[in-house]
Order: sequence, then C-alpha cells, then structure tokens
Amino acid sequence: NRIAILISGRGSNMDAILDRIQSGHLEAQVAFVASDRPDAKGLEKAKSRAIPTEVLPYGDGKAKGEAALQNLMDRHDVNWLVLAGFMRILSEELVLRHQGRIVNIHPALLPSFPGAHGIEDAWDFGVKVTGVTVHLVDHLVDHGEILAQLPVRIKQDDDLESLERRIHRAEHRLYWRTLRSLFSGELKGRKEGSK
Ligand code: GRF
Repeated sequence: NRIAILISGRGSNMDAILDRIQSGHLEAQVAFVASDRPDAKGLEKAKSRAIPTEVLPYGDGKAKGEAALQNLMDRHDVNWLVLAGFMRILSEELVLRHQGRIVNIHPALLPSFPGAHGIEDAWDFGVKVTGVTVHLVDHLVDHGEILAQLPVRIKQDDDLESLERRIHRAEHRLYWRTLRSLFSGELKGRKEGSK
C-alpha cells in the first residue's frame, strides 16, 4: 500500500497514522505528504520524520493543484489517498479516477454536521452524542460512503475545548484502524463489496 497523505493544517491525524506505521501496526508506505498551504504545520512534522513533502499549487487554481497531485501520484506509484484535515473539495474527475481509494476523516457523526466546523456545529446544536467518521470521498462535501464511526458522549462539565480534545483523541484511535482494515481487504466499500 503506497499512500499519500493530504493536509492543510496541524497534521495531528497524519502524525497518529505515521506513528502506527512506524510501530508496525499499520502496513503502508507513505510516498509523500502534500498540502495546499505552504505554511501547514504538519509539513514540518512530516519533514522531521524524513518523509518527502510537497506543496500543491492550489493558489493558481484547483485544476493546477489537482494536476500536480495527479502527477505526484503517478510518479510515486500511489494507490491510496488519505485526507487528514485537507480543506479542499476534490473534483469529480479526480475522485472518479481513484474511486474507492480516497479516504477522509470528519469530526462528527455524518451525515450530521458536515462542513468545516463539525465539532462546533454539533456543540452549538446541543447534541448529547457526537463523534468521528471515516468515509470514502466523493466530489461532495463529507458525503461519501461511511466506513467507520466512533461515538463521543458530551459530558455535563464539557466545554467546547474539552470536547475538541476528546474528538481528536477518537480520531487518532479510529483512523489508522480503519485504514488497516481497508488496506487488508477486510473492510470493503459497499459498492466494491457488492460486485
Ligand atoms: C480533524 O478534526 C479532521 O477531522 C478534520 O480536520 C481536522 C484536522 O486536524 N477534517 P489535524 O490537522 O489532523 O490535526
């Protein structure tokens, strides 16, 4: 499994995945880590682990950004794209080309609270249970087939910050495990599974 990890920010999910690869719990080779933002903190973290990093030229438009990504994937023989806080919507063309091989994590129980503020939106709504979702990516926002979910209960004395911490811990527990099941073929997307 040759994977590329796409980030836009801090990269804590990326880090958790890299830890599990390093410890031998997840079998995968990370060909590169790419960001649409040159200042993404996660790029430094990847560099310090001697993983090649790339900045995608999204500043010149989505088509340029995605062309560069496709190029890198071809060059590095990448067969899985792992999104970890990547804040861009992929085009239908790119998604169709890699159907069933692009994975994302979202900090809420989809289909509730899609979008860039899943944790806050669930908190503001006043739900008693929220959680995290790992799903296949399609060209709509936080919409593709659900692969795994982990619930997180909201406690009496929670504030948004303490909830955020538990959500991120749940993400770091769930993502690598889901990838492991997916890469081993044990977990199949429903569409793949029914063929
Ligand atoms: C995570 O909460 C993830 O679910 C969402 O963006 C956040 C990225 O955090 N898509 P990090 O960069 O992995 O720390």
